[in-house]
Amino acid sequence: MTGSVTRFTVRQRLEHLCVMVLFLLLAVTGLPQKFFEAGWARWIIGVLGGIDRIRWLHRTSGILFAVLAGVHLLTALALVLSGRAAPSLVPARKDFGDALVMLRYYLGLSEEQARFDRYDYRQKFEYWGLVLGGAVMIVTGFILYFPTSVTRVLTGEVIPAAKVAHSNEGLLAFLVVIIWHVYNAHLSPDVFPFDSSIFTGKISRERMEKEHPLEYAEMNEHKRQGEPREDG
Ligand code: HEM
Repeated sequence: MTGSVTRFTVRQRLEHLCVMVLFLLLAVTGLPQKFFEAGWARWIIGVLGGIDRIRWLHRTSGILFAVLAGVHLLTALALVLSGRAAPSLVPARKDFGDALVMLRYYLGLSEEQARFDRYDYRQKFEYWGLVLGGAVMIVTGFILYFPTSVTRVLTGEVIPAAKVAHSNEGLLAFLVVIIWHVYNAHLSPDVFPFDSSIFTGKISRERMEKEHPLEYAEMNEHKRQGEPREDG
């Protein structure tokens, strides 16, 4: 079996590129503010033009990140409600069963492996981690951006609470991306040294059959290999 199939639309690839660039910008401009006493943080602040410039960059990329998240969720909702996409990222009962099957397999208790559809339970977990973690970052980020407006409506204690949540969730998100996402996209033996599918849109038939057998069977049934599926 040779050749490749198209797995991601241009819109999905562009979205990934935007979230990747904005997330990196937010981490590079946010973390030096948290660890401002460290030598590396001072170095980054100096290279990027000083603390005022870094704060401006962080807030601007934060606004763009919030717009991207809003557009993403509205588009997904519209696609699902109009019947043009299946809710392929929404956790289903099968995901819990699949996780148990794979746990038994990894512990050597069974030879059976789960057969996945478009996204497996790990991919869905990572996606919802980004969506829910992103929501916390956006809400707390805007509270820190507009503290006086917020305290006209809410108690002042919300400001230090938002700061603690924003600061620690920011660090957690960064560590999750570094450890988990980099493993899945680069270091996992299945894709080493680099899984390029989200940039090119293409994935080999071998990987498709191995990693997403249910989606691959459905693709073959409908002879749909040039037009990738939209996601909801
Ligand atoms: C995943 C994305 C983000 C990460 C990793 C991140 C990270 C950080 C970190 C580590 C800090 C320093 C906190 C401290 O001093 O302890 C910070 C501060 C801040 N962040 Fe974010 N952030 C993100 C998204 C956002 C968003 C969406 C906004 C909304 C505009 C935002 C607005 C702010 C503001 C206003 C501050 C306070 C510093 C200042 O006044 O400029 N951040 N961020």
